[in-house]
Amino acid sequence: MDWGEWMEQCEAARGKFAQLINADIKEIAIVSSVSHATSAIATSLPSINDRNEVIITDMDFPCIGHVWLSQPDIQVNFIPAKKNAYTIDQYENAIYSNTLLTSISHILYYNGFRQDIKNISEVVHAKGSYLFVDAYQSAGQVDIDVKRDGIDILVAGMQKYMLGIPGIAFMYVRNELAEQLTPGITGWFGQANPFAFDVQSVKYAGGARRFDTGTFPMLNGYASNAALDLLHEVGIQNIEKRLIDLSKYTLDYAQEKGIKIVSPLDPNQKGSNTALLIENAHDVEQKMKEEGYIVSARNDVIRIAPHFYNTKEDIIGALDCFKEITMR
Ligand SMILES: Cc1ncc(COP(=O)(O)O)c(C=O)c1O
Repeated sequence: MDWGEWMEQCEAARGKFAQLINADIKEIAIVSSVSHATSAIATSLPSINDRNEVIITDMDFPCIGHVWLSQPDIQVNFIPAKKNAYTIDQYENAIYSNTLLTSISHILYYNGFRQDIKNISEVVHAKGSYLFVDAYQSAGQVDIDVKRDGIDILVAGMQKYMLGIPGIAFMYVRNELAEQLTPGITGWFGQANPFAFDVQSVKYAGGARRFDTGTFPMLNGYASNAALDLLHEVGIQNIEKRLIDLSKYTLDYAQEKGIKIVSPLDPNQKGSNTALLIENAHDVEQKMKEEGYIVSARNDVIRIAPHFYNTKEDIIGALDCFKEITMR
């Protein structure tokens, strides 16, 4: 074993993630998944004031709903999507004086709809609520700045556009907020000094580190480090620009081919994902895989979701393959 180097790898990854979203390293916790991070917050929040409602959007990833709904002291209300998207007015109307926290997805997993976080955060904060952002579908593909965008809590795993592997995720908690929270789940790494080996008292670490729990997923730390180096080297602004180009190309080519799209038709209102409507999406996913195209099926859509290393030829190939399979 090489405990020292393992820890260094995980700490370096924590720092590189902080840099990616313009946070301070002390505002980042190392967690195992977005479900874990959300649960950690859900079990810690109610202690800070007597509001008890959480507003979430009905197209959030299911685990977010599961976590909030599992909290006995929390009243959950869903904002219903309109045409697979949300408007700022819907937030204005949904959030009221009892709303403790507003939980949103930055880019929707289903169709790539991209929310305007800064605008939403202004509404949320004007109503005295906290803003929680699930950035699993956006981190690594679009520029995120937690300070500019006014985010209180942000969670994201390494497995998707951050080019890592599952088993590790990061959670940002704004420092002033983190300092007020008492973790509902904890472990020795959430303590101010894990190596004090003090079994008889609990002394939480400063900032978001109090949400660290047990021994870090060390192998995943190495993978995260390498992945984050790559993202920083290519540059998130370059990646975002490239993906807007690929998105535009995908939208144009798919429409030319008469494919039904349920993503926004403006590339600036979406992430890389373009969702193609099709009844038997899971069969199509499997058949496309056999032809060498890795896409994913979600309910009634196939997601074409390139990253910066994909080319227009990849998009043409995938859409032609989709068309060919669905015409059979
Ligand atoms: C937006 C979003 N949030 C959360 C998750 C699940 O996160 P985890 O498995 O880390 O709990 C996913 C997985 O696909 C996702 O797309």
